[in-house]
Amino acid sequence: MQHQRVLVLDFGGQYNQLIARRARDLGVYCDLKPCDMTVGEIRAYDPIGIIFTGGPNSVYDPAAPHIDRAVLGLGIPVLGICYGSQLIAYTLGGKVEHAAMSEYGKREFSFLKESPLSEGIPQTSVCWMSHTDHVTEVPDGFAVLASTPTCPVTVYGNAEKAIYGVQFHPEVVHSEYGNKLLENFLYRVCGAKGDWTMGGFVAEQVALLKEKIGDKKVLCAMSGGVDSAVAATLVHRAVGSQLTCVFVDHGLLRKGESEEVMSVFKDGLGMNLIRADAGERFLKKLEGVCEPEEKRKIIGAEFIKVFEIEAKKIGAVDFLVQGTIYPDVIESGKDKSAVIKSHHNVGGLPSVVDFKEIVEPLRDLFKDEVRRVGAELGLPDSVVQRQPFPGPGLAIRIMGEVTREKLETLRDADYIFREEVAKAGLAGKIWQYFAVITNSKTVGVQGDFRTYENVIALRAVTSVDAMTADWARIPYDVLERISNRITNEVPHANRIVYDITSKPPATIEWE
Ligand code: XMP
Repeated sequence: MQHQRVLVLDFGGQYNQLIARRARDLGVYCDLKPCDMTVGEIRAYDPIGIIFTGGPNSVYDPAAPHIDRAVLGLGIPVLGICYGSQLIAYTLGGKVEHAAMSEYGKREFSFLKESPLSEGIPQTSVCWMSHTDHVTEVPDGFAVLASTPTCPVTVYGNAEKAIYGVQFHPEVVHSEYGNKLLENFLYRVCGAKGDWTMGGFVAEQVALLKEKIGDKKVLCAMSGGVDSAVAATLVHRAVGSQLTCVFVDHGLLRKGESEEVMSVFKDGLGMNLIRADAGERFLKKLEGVCEPEEKRKIIGAEFIKVFEIEAKKIGAVDFLVQGTIYPDVIESGKDKSAVIKSHHNVGGLPSVVDFKEIVEPLRDLFKDEVRRVGAELGLPDSVVQRQPFPGPGLAIRIMGEVTREKLETLRDADYIFREEVAKAGLAGKIWQYFAVITNSKTVGVQGDFRTYENVIALRAVTSVDAMTADWARIPYDVLERISNRITNEVPHANRIVYDITSKPPATIEWE
Protein backbone atom coordinates (compact mmCIF):
# COMPACT_ATOMS: atom_id res chain seq x y z
CA MET A 1 0.00 0.00 0.00
CA GLN A 2 1.96 2.94 -1.26
CA HIS A 3 0.53 6.39 -0.70
CA GLN A 4 1.05 9.24 -3.04
CA ARG A 5 3.88 11.25 -1.58
CA VAL A 6 4.94 14.86 -1.69
CA LEU A 7 8.51 15.81 -0.97
CA VAL A 8 9.16 18.93 1.08
CA LEU A 9 12.78 19.99 0.63
CA ASP A 10 14.02 21.80 3.71
CA PHE A 11 15.99 24.98 3.03
CA GLY A 12 16.12 25.89 6.72
CA GLY A 13 13.09 28.13 7.26
CA GLN A 14 11.28 28.22 10.57
CA TYR A 15 7.90 26.99 9.27
CA ASN A 16 9.14 23.89 7.45
CA GLN A 17 7.49 21.26 9.61
CA LEU A 18 4.31 23.28 9.37
CA ILE A 19 4.28 22.94 5.57
CA ALA A 20 4.48 19.18 5.90
CA ARG A 21 1.75 19.16 8.55
CA ARG A 22 -0.55 21.29 6.42
CA ALA A 23 -0.13 19.00 3.42
CA ARG A 24 -0.89 15.97 5.58
CA ASP A 25 -3.94 17.66 7.04
CA LEU A 26 -5.08 18.09 3.46
CA GLY A 27 -4.90 14.31 3.06
CA VAL A 28 -1.57 14.03 1.27
CA TYR A 29 1.36 12.19 2.81
CA CYS A 30 4.59 14.14 2.70
CA ASP A 31 8.11 13.98 4.05
CA LEU A 32 10.46 16.76 5.05
CA LYS A 33 13.93 15.98 3.66
CA PRO A 34 17.23 17.89 3.55
CA CYS A 35 17.57 20.20 0.54
CA ASP A 36 20.71 18.46 -0.70
CA MET A 37 18.82 15.37 -1.86
CA THR A 38 20.20 14.39 -5.26
CA VAL A 39 18.18 14.17 -8.47
CA GLY A 40 18.58 10.40 -8.38
CA GLU A 41 17.27 10.21 -4.82
CA ILE A 42 14.33 12.43 -5.70
CA ARG A 43 13.47 10.28 -8.70
CA ALA A 44 13.69 7.14 -6.56
CA TYR A 45 11.42 8.70 -3.93
CA ASP A 46 8.87 9.17 -6.71
CA PRO A 47 6.90 12.17 -5.37
CA ILE A 48 3.77 13.52 -7.03
CA GLY A 49 5.04 17.01 -6.23
CA ILE A 50 7.92 18.85 -4.60
CA ILE A 51 7.76 21.86 -2.28
CA PHE A 52 10.85 24.01 -1.69
CA THR A 53 10.56 25.64 1.74
CA GLY A 54 11.64 29.08 2.84
CA GLY A 55 15.04 29.62 4.39
CA PRO A 56 17.19 32.29 6.03
CA ASN A 57 19.59 32.82 3.11
CA SER A 58 19.76 35.06 0.08
CA VAL A 59 20.38 33.08 -3.12
CA TYR A 60 23.53 35.19 -3.52
CA ASP A 61 25.09 34.18 -0.16
CA PRO A 62 28.23 32.14 -0.82
CA ALA A 63 26.96 29.43 1.53
CA ALA A 64 23.34 29.49 0.30
CA PRO A 65 21.91 26.08 -0.58
CA HIS A 66 21.13 25.74 -4.28
CA ILE A 67 19.45 23.05 -6.35
CA ASP A 68 20.43 21.09 -9.37
CA ARG A 69 18.59 22.58 -12.34
CA ALA A 70 17.70 19.02 -13.35
CA VAL A 71 15.25 18.85 -10.42
CA LEU A 72 13.13 21.37 -12.30
CA GLY A 73 13.28 19.26 -15.44
CA LEU A 74 11.94 16.01 -13.97
CA GLY A 75 8.39 16.76 -15.02
CA ILE A 76 7.34 16.71 -11.34
CA PRO A 77 5.28 19.72 -10.19
CA VAL A 78 7.19 22.13 -7.94
CA LEU A 79 6.03 24.85 -5.56
CA GLY A 80 8.67 27.18 -4.15
CA ILE A 81 7.80 29.12 -1.01
CA CYS A 82 9.67 32.35 -0.10
CA TYR A 83 13.37 31.39 -0.45
CA GLY A 84 12.19 28.39 -2.48
CA SER A 85 10.41 30.74 -4.87
CA GLN A 86 13.50 32.92 -5.25
CA LEU A 87 15.61 29.82 -5.82
CA ILE A 88 13.44 28.66 -8.72
CA ALA A 89 13.67 32.08 -10.38
CA TYR A 90 17.43 32.25 -9.80
CA THR A 91 18.02 28.72 -11.12
CA LEU A 92 15.96 29.22 -14.28
CA GLY A 93 17.45 32.59 -15.22
CA GLY A 94 14.99 35.03 -13.63
CA LYS A 95 16.11 37.89 -11.43
CA VAL A 96 16.19 38.08 -7.62
CA GLU A 97 17.02 41.35 -5.87
CA HIS A 98 17.18 42.83 -2.40
CA ALA A 99 13.87 44.58 -1.82
CA ALA A 100 14.13 48.26 -0.95
CA MET A 101 12.42 47.40 2.32
CA SER A 102 12.10 44.05 4.08
CA GLU A 103 8.49 42.95 4.40
CA TYR A 104 7.23 41.29 7.57
CA GLY A 105 3.67 40.58 8.46
CA LYS A 106 0.32 40.85 6.77
CA ARG A 107 0.03 42.25 3.23
CA GLU A 108 -2.78 42.39 0.72
CA PHE A 109 -1.99 40.69 -2.56
CA SER A 110 -4.02 40.50 -5.76
CA PHE A 111 -4.15 37.92 -8.49
CA LEU A 112 -3.47 39.34 -11.94
CA LYS A 113 -4.15 36.14 -13.87
CA GLU A 114 -6.09 32.98 -13.18
CA SER A 115 -4.20 29.75 -12.65
CA PRO A 116 -4.82 26.41 -10.93
CA LEU A 117 -3.35 27.98 -7.78
CA SER A 118 -5.93 30.77 -7.64
CA GLU A 119 -9.08 28.61 -7.86
CA GLY A 120 -11.54 29.51 -5.11
CA ILE A 121 -9.41 32.39 -3.78
CA PRO A 122 -10.74 35.98 -3.95
CA GLN A 123 -8.86 38.27 -6.30
CA THR A 124 -7.50 40.21 -3.31
CA SER A 125 -6.73 38.71 0.08
CA VAL A 126 -4.28 38.87 2.97
CA CYS A 127 -1.02 36.96 3.00
CA TRP A 128 1.88 36.67 5.46
CA MET A 129 5.23 37.94 4.25
CA SER A 130 8.66 37.58 5.81
CA HIS A 131 11.46 38.40 3.38
CA THR A 132 14.24 40.75 2.31
CA ASP A 133 14.96 39.48 -1.22
CA HIS A 134 12.29 39.04 -3.84
CA VAL A 135 11.88 38.02 -7.46
CA THR A 136 11.87 41.00 -9.85
CA GLU A 137 11.95 39.18 -13.19
CA VAL A 138 10.44 35.78 -13.85
CA PRO A 139 12.28 33.21 -15.98
CA ASP A 140 11.42 32.82 -19.68
CA GLY A 141 8.12 31.09 -20.20
CA PHE A 142 6.83 32.04 -16.73
CA ALA A 143 4.03 34.51 -15.97
CA VAL A 144 3.51 36.86 -13.05
CA LEU A 145 0.28 35.66 -11.43
CA ALA A 146 -0.09 37.94 -8.38
CA SER A 147 1.54 40.95 -6.75
CA THR A 148 1.35 43.37 -3.83
CA PRO A 149 2.07 47.11 -4.11
CA THR A 150 5.63 46.49 -2.88
CA CYS A 151 6.30 42.97 -4.13
CA PRO A 152 5.82 42.86 -7.90
CA VAL A 153 6.15 39.08 -8.20
CA THR A 154 4.20 37.61 -5.29
CA VAL A 155 3.08 34.53 -7.22
CA TYR A 156 4.43 33.35 -10.56
CA GLY A 157 4.42 30.16 -12.53
CA ASN A 158 4.42 28.13 -15.66
CA ALA A 159 1.31 25.96 -16.01
CA GLU A 160 2.81 23.71 -18.66
CA LYS A 161 5.85 22.87 -16.54
CA ALA A 162 3.68 22.86 -13.38
CA ILE A 163 6.26 25.00 -11.56
CA TYR A 164 5.15 27.82 -9.26
CA GLY A 165 6.66 30.23 -6.78
CA VAL A 166 4.97 32.16 -3.95
CA GLN A 167 6.76 34.86 -2.02
CA PHE A 168 4.47 34.67 1.02
CA HIS A 169 3.99 31.84 3.50
CA PRO A 170 0.77 29.96 2.66
CA GLU A 171 1.40 27.57 5.57
CA VAL A 172 0.90 30.14 8.35
CA VAL A 173 -2.61 30.90 9.55
CA HIS A 174 -2.24 34.62 8.89
CA SER A 175 -2.31 33.90 5.15
CA GLU A 176 -6.10 33.95 4.80
CA TYR A 177 -6.30 31.58 1.83
CA GLY A 178 -2.89 29.98 2.27
CA ASN A 179 -4.35 26.57 2.97
CA LYS A 180 -6.53 26.83 -0.12
CA LEU A 181 -3.48 27.68 -2.20
CA LEU A 182 -1.65 24.61 -0.87
CA GLU A 183 -4.73 22.50 -1.52
CA ASN A 184 -4.86 23.84 -5.07
CA PHE A 185 -1.21 22.95 -5.63
CA LEU A 186 -1.67 19.44 -4.24
CA TYR A 187 -4.99 18.59 -5.87
CA ARG A 188 -5.09 20.70 -9.06
CA VAL A 189 -1.42 20.75 -9.96
CA CYS A 190 -0.02 17.50 -8.52
CA GLY A 191 -3.17 15.43 -8.96
CA ALA A 192 -3.40 14.32 -5.33
CA LYS A 193 -6.16 11.84 -4.49
CA GLY A 194 -6.23 12.52 -0.74
CA ASP A 195 -5.28 8.99 0.22
CA TRP A 196 -3.66 9.89 3.56
CA THR A 197 -6.24 9.39 6.31
CA MET A 198 -5.83 8.24 9.90
CA GLY A 199 -8.37 5.46 9.44
CA GLY A 200 -6.32 4.23 6.48
CA PHE A 201 -3.14 4.55 8.51
CA VAL A 202 -4.53 2.36 11.30
CA ALA A 203 -5.69 -0.37 8.93
CA GLU A 204 -2.40 -0.34 7.07
CA GLN A 205 -0.21 -0.34 10.20
CA VAL A 206 -2.19 -3.14 11.82
CA ALA A 207 -1.67 -5.26 8.70
CA LEU A 208 2.04 -4.40 8.55
CA LEU A 209 2.54 -5.10 12.26
CA LYS A 210 0.74 -8.44 11.99
CA GLU A 211 2.97 -9.46 9.14
CA LYS A 212 6.16 -8.26 10.78
CA ILE A 213 5.52 -9.63 14.28
CA GLY A 214 3.87 -12.90 13.28
CA ASP A 215 3.55 -15.03 16.42
CA LYS A 216 6.52 -13.42 18.20
CA LYS A 217 6.72 -11.59 21.53
CA VAL A 218 6.67 -7.82 21.93
CA LEU A 219 7.46 -5.52 24.86
CA CYS A 220 6.51 -1.89 25.36
CA ALA A 221 7.20 0.69 28.07
CA MET A 222 4.11 2.78 28.77
CA SER A 223 4.56 6.09 30.51
CA GLY A 224 1.01 7.39 30.54
CA GLY A 225 1.98 9.81 27.74
CA VAL A 226 0.20 10.02 24.38
CA ASP A 227 2.91 8.54 22.16
CA SER A 228 3.61 5.34 24.06
CA ALA A 229 -0.12 4.84 24.72
CA VAL A 230 -1.02 5.11 21.03
CA ALA A 231 1.95 3.00 19.90
CA ALA A 232 1.04 0.26 22.38
CA THR A 233 -2.64 0.35 21.39
CA LEU A 234 -1.80 -0.02 17.71
CA VAL A 235 0.47 -2.99 18.38
CA HIS A 236 -2.15 -4.48 20.69
CA ARG A 237 -4.76 -4.13 17.95
CA ALA A 238 -2.42 -6.10 15.66
CA VAL A 239 -1.10 -8.87 17.92
CA GLY A 240 -3.20 -8.79 21.11
CA SER A 241 -1.76 -10.83 23.95
CA GLN A 242 1.65 -11.26 22.31
CA LEU A 243 2.28 -7.73 23.57
CA THR A 244 3.29 -7.09 27.17
CA CYS A 245 3.39 -3.52 28.43
CA VAL A 246 5.31 -2.35 31.45
CA PHE A 247 4.16 0.79 33.19
CA VAL A 248 6.80 2.11 35.56
CA ASP A 249 4.76 4.07 38.07
CA HIS A 250 7.32 6.37 39.66
CA GLY A 251 4.70 7.84 41.95
CA LEU A 252 5.22 11.27 40.39
CA LEU A 253 2.17 11.36 38.11
CA ARG A 254 -0.74 13.73 38.59
CA LYS A 255 -3.83 12.88 40.60
CA GLY A 256 -5.72 9.91 39.17
CA GLU A 257 -3.36 9.25 36.26
CA SER A 258 -1.84 6.00 37.38
CA GLU A 259 -5.31 4.54 38.05
CA GLU A 260 -6.49 5.79 34.67
CA VAL A 261 -3.68 4.04 32.81
CA MET A 262 -4.70 0.76 34.46
CA SER A 263 -8.41 1.23 33.87
CA VAL A 264 -8.12 2.26 30.20
CA PHE A 265 -5.49 -0.20 29.04
CA LYS A 266 -5.78 -3.21 31.36
CA ASP A 267 -9.45 -3.25 32.27
CA GLY A 268 -10.79 -1.52 29.17
CA LEU A 269 -8.65 -2.90 26.35
CA GLY A 270 -7.58 -6.07 28.11
CA MET A 271 -3.89 -5.45 27.56
CA ASN A 272 -1.21 -7.47 29.29
CA LEU A 273 -0.16 -4.52 31.38
CA ILE A 274 2.23 -4.80 34.31
CA ARG A 275 2.38 -1.88 36.70
CA ALA A 276 5.66 -1.59 38.58
CA ASP A 277 4.64 0.29 41.68
CA ALA A 278 7.92 2.07 42.40
CA GLY A 279 6.74 5.23 44.15
CA GLU A 280 8.46 4.37 47.44
CA ARG A 281 11.70 3.53 45.71
CA PHE A 282 11.77 6.85 43.84
CA LEU A 283 10.92 8.86 46.96
CA LYS A 284 13.73 7.19 48.85
CA LYS A 285 16.23 7.97 46.08
CA LEU A 286 15.07 11.58 46.02
CA GLU A 287 15.41 12.08 49.78
CA GLY A 288 17.41 15.20 50.55
CA VAL A 289 17.96 15.99 46.85
CA CYS A 290 17.17 19.61 45.92
CA GLU A 291 19.16 20.35 42.79
CA PRO A 292 16.96 20.08 39.63
CA GLU A 293 19.47 18.37 37.35
CA GLU A 294 20.33 15.89 40.07
CA LYS A 295 16.65 15.05 40.51
CA ARG A 296 16.22 14.57 36.78
CA LYS A 297 19.25 12.29 36.53
CA ILE A 298 18.20 10.17 39.51
CA ILE A 299 14.70 9.71 38.10
CA GLY A 300 15.99 8.86 34.61
CA ALA A 301 18.43 6.26 35.95
CA GLU A 302 15.94 4.78 38.41
CA PHE A 303 13.29 4.49 35.70
CA ILE A 304 15.64 2.35 33.62
CA LYS A 305 16.59 0.19 36.62
CA VAL A 306 12.96 -0.53 37.49
CA PHE A 307 12.13 -1.28 33.88
CA GLU A 308 15.11 -3.63 33.69
CA ILE A 309 13.87 -5.63 36.69
CA GLU A 310 10.48 -6.10 35.02
CA ALA A 311 12.02 -6.86 31.61
CA LYS A 312 14.21 -9.57 33.18
CA LYS A 313 11.10 -11.24 34.61
CA ILE A 314 9.59 -11.32 31.13
CA GLY A 315 12.79 -12.63 29.55
CA ALA A 316 13.83 -12.43 25.93
CA VAL A 317 11.41 -10.79 23.50
CA ASP A 318 11.63 -10.37 19.76
CA PHE A 319 10.49 -6.76 19.48
CA LEU A 320 10.62 -3.62 21.59
CA VAL A 321 7.97 -0.97 20.81
CA GLN A 322 8.98 2.69 20.99
CA GLY A 323 6.71 5.71 20.64
CA THR A 324 9.14 7.67 18.43
CA ILE A 325 7.29 10.28 16.35
CA TYR A 326 8.22 12.18 13.17
CA PRO A 327 9.62 15.37 14.79
CA ASP A 328 12.01 13.13 16.83
CA VAL A 329 13.16 11.54 13.58
CA ILE A 330 13.72 14.92 11.91
CA GLU A 331 15.43 16.41 14.98
CA SER A 332 17.76 13.48 15.57
CA GLY A 333 19.47 14.27 12.28
CA LYS A 334 20.28 17.83 13.34
CA ASP A 335 22.86 19.47 15.58
CA LYS A 336 21.93 19.50 19.21
CA SER A 337 21.89 22.86 20.95
CA ALA A 338 23.04 23.54 24.52
CA VAL A 339 21.51 21.32 27.16
CA ILE A 340 19.22 23.45 29.30
CA LYS A 341 17.54 20.50 31.02
CA SER A 342 18.45 16.86 30.67
CA HIS A 343 15.30 15.33 29.27
CA HIS A 344 14.23 12.01 30.52
CA ASN A 345 12.51 9.68 28.10
CA VAL A 346 12.72 6.03 27.21
CA GLY A 347 15.88 6.43 25.10
CA GLY A 348 17.99 4.34 27.48
CA LEU A 349 15.67 1.33 27.52
CA PRO A 350 17.07 -0.67 24.60
CA SER A 351 20.28 -1.32 26.54
CA VAL A 352 18.48 -3.20 29.31
CA VAL A 353 16.07 -5.30 27.25
CA ASP A 354 16.92 -8.57 25.55
CA PHE A 355 15.28 -7.98 22.16
CA LYS A 356 16.06 -8.36 18.46
CA GLU A 357 14.38 -5.42 16.78
CA ILE A 358 12.76 -2.08 17.55
CA VAL A 359 9.24 -1.36 16.27
CA GLU A 360 8.27 2.31 15.87
CA PRO A 361 4.77 2.40 14.37
CA LEU A 362 4.42 6.19 14.81
CA ARG A 363 7.71 7.31 13.35
CA ASP A 364 6.02 8.88 10.31
CA LEU A 365 3.44 10.85 12.30
CA PHE A 366 3.24 14.37 13.64
CA LYS A 367 1.86 14.83 17.15
CA ASP A 368 -1.60 15.91 16.00
CA GLU A 369 -1.76 12.83 13.76
CA VAL A 370 -0.79 10.62 16.72
CA ARG A 371 -3.73 12.10 18.65
CA ARG A 372 -6.06 11.44 15.72
CA VAL A 373 -4.83 7.84 15.46
CA GLY A 374 -5.46 7.47 19.21
CA ALA A 375 -9.02 8.73 18.75
CA GLU A 376 -9.44 6.40 15.77
CA LEU A 377 -8.40 3.51 18.04
CA GLY A 378 -11.08 4.53 20.54
CA LEU A 379 -8.83 5.94 23.27
CA PRO A 380 -10.53 8.50 25.52
CA ASP A 381 -9.85 12.24 25.23
CA SER A 382 -8.16 12.24 28.62
CA VAL A 383 -5.44 10.07 27.06
CA VAL A 384 -5.18 11.45 23.52
CA GLN A 385 -5.57 15.13 24.41
CA ARG A 386 -3.29 14.90 27.45
CA GLN A 387 -1.12 17.97 27.80
CA PRO A 388 2.65 17.54 27.56
CA PHE A 389 3.96 16.19 30.83
CA PRO A 390 7.64 15.91 31.74
CA GLY A 391 9.17 12.48 32.27
CA PRO A 392 10.39 13.36 35.79
CA GLY A 393 6.79 14.28 36.59
CA LEU A 394 5.80 16.25 39.64
CA ALA A 395 9.36 16.03 41.03
CA ILE A 396 10.31 19.04 38.91
CA ARG A 397 7.17 20.93 39.96
CA ILE A 398 8.16 20.66 43.60
CA MET A 399 10.98 23.08 44.25
CA GLY A 400 13.57 21.66 46.60
CA GLU A 401 13.20 18.25 48.20
CA VAL A 402 10.35 15.99 47.08
CA THR A 403 8.34 14.70 50.04
CA ARG A 404 5.17 12.68 50.33
CA GLU A 405 3.35 15.60 51.93
CA LYS A 406 4.35 18.07 49.21
CA LEU A 407 3.34 15.56 46.53
CA GLU A 408 -0.13 15.29 48.05
CA THR A 409 -0.56 19.04 48.33
CA LEU A 410 0.61 19.55 44.77
CA ARG A 411 -1.64 16.82 43.36
CA ASP A 412 -4.71 18.30 44.99
CA ALA A 413 -3.91 21.89 44.00
CA ASP A 414 -3.10 20.85 40.44
CA TYR A 415 -6.34 18.88 40.18
CA ILE A 416 -8.41 21.90 41.18
CA PHE A 417 -6.54 24.05 38.66
CA ARG A 418 -7.24 21.52 35.89
CA GLU A 419 -10.88 21.20 36.88
CA GLU A 420 -11.51 24.95 36.85
CA VAL A 421 -9.67 25.50 33.55
CA ALA A 422 -11.82 22.77 31.99
CA LYS A 423 -15.02 24.22 33.47
CA ALA A 424 -14.14 27.63 32.04
CA GLY A 425 -13.80 26.02 28.59
CA LEU A 426 -10.13 26.99 28.36
CA ALA A 427 -8.53 23.54 28.27
CA GLY A 428 -8.09 23.35 24.50
CA LYS A 429 -6.76 26.89 24.31
CA ILE A 430 -3.86 26.55 26.71
CA TRP A 431 -0.76 24.51 25.83
CA GLN A 432 0.08 23.50 29.40
CA TYR A 433 -1.27 24.46 32.79
CA PHE A 434 -0.18 23.11 36.13
CA ALA A 435 0.56 23.95 39.73
CA VAL A 436 4.00 24.24 41.30
CA ILE A 437 5.01 24.10 44.95
CA THR A 438 7.49 26.89 45.45
CA ASN A 439 10.14 26.36 48.02
CA SER A 440 8.82 29.11 50.23
CA LYS A 441 6.35 29.39 53.05
CA THR A 442 4.48 32.51 54.01
CA VAL A 443 2.30 33.65 56.86
CA GLY A 444 -1.45 33.60 56.42
CA VAL A 445 -4.59 33.81 58.50
CA GLN A 446 -7.29 31.18 58.25
CA GLY A 447 -10.22 31.09 60.68
CA ASP A 448 -8.59 33.58 63.06
CA PHE A 449 -5.45 31.47 63.28
CA ARG A 450 -2.00 32.20 62.01
CA THR A 451 -0.76 29.77 59.36
CA TYR A 452 2.70 29.32 57.95
CA GLU A 453 2.33 27.30 54.77
CA ASN A 454 3.39 26.74 51.15
CA VAL A 455 3.10 29.25 48.33
CA ILE A 456 1.58 27.53 45.31
CA ALA A 457 2.33 28.97 41.90
CA LEU A 458 0.04 28.47 38.93
CA ARG A 459 1.73 28.15 35.55
CA ALA A 460 -0.23 28.28 32.30
CA VAL A 461 1.27 28.95 28.89
CA THR A 462 0.29 29.19 25.27
CA SER A 463 2.74 27.81 22.73
CA VAL A 464 2.94 26.00 19.41
CA ASP A 465 5.95 23.81 19.98
CA ALA A 466 7.19 24.45 23.57
CA MET A 467 10.31 26.14 22.16
CA THR A 468 8.87 29.54 23.03
CA ALA A 469 5.81 30.24 25.15
CA ASP A 470 3.73 33.09 26.48
CA TRP A 471 1.85 33.14 29.77
CA ALA A 472 -1.83 32.45 29.27
CA ARG A 473 -4.24 35.32 29.94
CA ILE A 474 -6.63 33.33 32.15
CA PRO A 475 -9.50 35.64 33.18
CA TYR A 476 -9.22 37.08 36.70
CA ASP A 477 -12.49 35.53 37.86
CA VAL A 478 -11.28 32.05 36.89
CA LEU A 479 -8.01 32.68 38.73
CA GLU A 480 -9.95 33.90 41.71
CA ARG A 481 -12.04 30.72 41.84
CA ILE A 482 -8.93 28.58 41.62
CA SER A 483 -7.20 30.53 44.37
CA ASN A 484 -10.26 30.34 46.65
CA ARG A 485 -10.72 26.65 46.10
CA ILE A 486 -7.07 25.71 46.63
CA THR A 487 -6.69 27.71 49.84
CA ASN A 488 -9.98 26.32 51.16
CA GLU A 489 -9.74 22.71 50.04
CA VAL A 490 -6.04 21.87 50.06
CA PRO A 491 -4.12 21.47 53.31
CA HIS A 492 -0.73 23.20 53.58
CA ALA A 493 -1.38 25.89 50.99
CA ASN A 494 -2.15 29.43 52.09
CA ARG A 495 -1.04 31.64 49.20
CA ILE A 496 -1.46 31.40 45.41
CA VAL A 497 0.60 33.31 42.86
CA TYR A 498 0.30 33.38 39.06
CA ASP A 499 3.43 33.07 36.92
CA ILE A 500 3.50 35.82 34.27
CA THR A 501 6.82 35.01 32.63
CA SER A 502 7.22 34.04 29.00
CA LYS A 503 9.77 31.56 27.62
CA PRO A 504 12.42 32.85 27.14
CA PRO A 505 13.63 34.09 29.60
CA ALA A 506 11.90 31.51 31.82
CA THR A 507 11.24 27.91 30.81
CA ILE A 508 7.79 26.34 30.93
CA GLU A 509 8.57 24.02 33.84
CA TRP A 510 10.08 25.59 36.94
CA GLU A 511 12.98 23.14 37.15
P1 XMP B 1 10.80 23.63 29.37
O1 XMP B 1 10.53 23.56 30.83
O2 XMP B 1 12.22 23.25 29.02
O3 XMP B 1 9.89 22.50 28.73
O4 XMP B 1 10.39 24.93 28.76
C1 XMP B 1 9.60 22.37 27.38
C2 XMP B 1 8.60 21.24 27.24
O5 XMP B 1 9.21 19.99 27.56
C3 XMP B 1 8.53 19.38 28.66
N1 XMP B 1 9.57 18.77 29.48
C4 XMP B 1 9.90 17.47 29.42
N2 XMP B 1 9.41 16.47 28.65
N3 XMP B 1 10.91 14.97 29.63
C5 XMP B 1 9.93 15.22 28.77
O6 XMP B 1 9.49 14.29 28.09
C6 XMP B 1 11.47 15.91 30.44
O7 XMP B 1 12.38 15.66 31.21
C7 XMP B 1 10.92 17.24 30.32
N4 XMP B 1 11.21 18.42 30.91
C8 XMP B 1 10.36 19.35 30.39
C9 XMP B 1 7.79 20.51 29.35
O8 XMP B 1 6.68 20.03 30.09
C10 XMP B 1 7.41 21.36 28.16
O9 XMP B 1 6.30 20.83 27.49
